[in-house]
Amino acid sequence: MQTISSIESLRQTIRQFKQNGQRVAFVPTMGNLHQGHLELVKRAFSEADKVVVSIFVNPMQFGQNEDLDNYPRTLEADQQALSALGVDLLFTPTPQIMYPKGLDAQTFVEVPAISENYCGTSRPGHFRGVATIVNKLFNLVQPDVACFGEKDFQQLQVIRTMVEDLSMPIKIIGVPTVREKNGLAKSSRNGYLTEAQKEQAGIIYHCMQSAKTQLLKEKTSIQTVQQQLANTLETAGLRLDYIAIADTKSLQPATADNKSWVILVAAYMGNTRLIDNLVIENP
Ligand code: PAJ
Repeated sequence: MQTISSIESLRQTIRQFKQNGQRVAFVPTMGNLHQGHLELVKRAFSEADKVVVSIFVNPMQFGQNEDLDNYPRTLEADQQALSALGVDLLFTPTPQIMYPKGLDAQTFVEVPAISENYCGTSRPGHFRGVATIVNKLFNLVQPDVACFGEKDFQQLQVIRTMVEDLSMPIKIIGVPTVREKNGLAKSSRNGYLTEAQKEQAGIIYHCMQSAKTQLLKEKTSIQTVQQQLANTLETAGLRLDYIAIADTKSLQPATADNKSWVILVAAYMGNTRLIDNLVIENP
């Protein structure tokens, strides 16, 4: 596996792939890779001839009081894991390379409606940072296909919307969430949790499953299910940021005639903010 930090070398290698007529699949990440990221990489292989991964802890998507400085950086282990899977090219730029003029002098991409609620409300500017860096990375890597996790459901929909609105010739693939045995969604931020907290946090997934049963089998109203879910999680010791049941496509509040719904949860376990979601087909 080739590891490249400079834009010039990246462009050169990508040009070569293209000249050989090879399809390129891309997996953008912030590193500290776990099985969730690696599933995206495996999926990428099934879609293209060459797989490119990026590791870049993007300062533009972190708020002032967030964990940018403490975000786990484990480049060597990440390189080993990617190389073992046969990844062709790893792009590891520095902030100076990606933002030579600094964050404030930078052109940005905003995807308004879909970015507004949920994580967009709790983390102002977050999705602008995500859309901007993903757009930049897409311009550099020029992938035919890019893989994102359903774990970050709103992020996936922001990217899908950006690609559609800006007519980018890139197929976006959503990959199902990889979980711990107890149901906790794998996340780089799980490393901030104690073993006991990890055990306790498994309740998020189980409660979302119960909410699904209530909606589909017991025909409980959307509003009641949402309220009960909030109560159960709070009683279990989580501090809620938001809970919502929304239309999967628009992320507007769910109504009975949506084709599918998504339960969206963001909650603090101690000081660690966890997000998760569950998609439900409306029969
Ligand atoms: P990061 O949190 O490193 O995640 C990289 C990709 O892995 C994202 O598409 C995310 O949804 C996916 N992912 C994370 N945990 C997962 C899990 N348990 N199961 C399946 N997929 C999972 O998301 C980002 O980085 C950044 O915002 C980025 C898109 C790279 C832009 O900076």
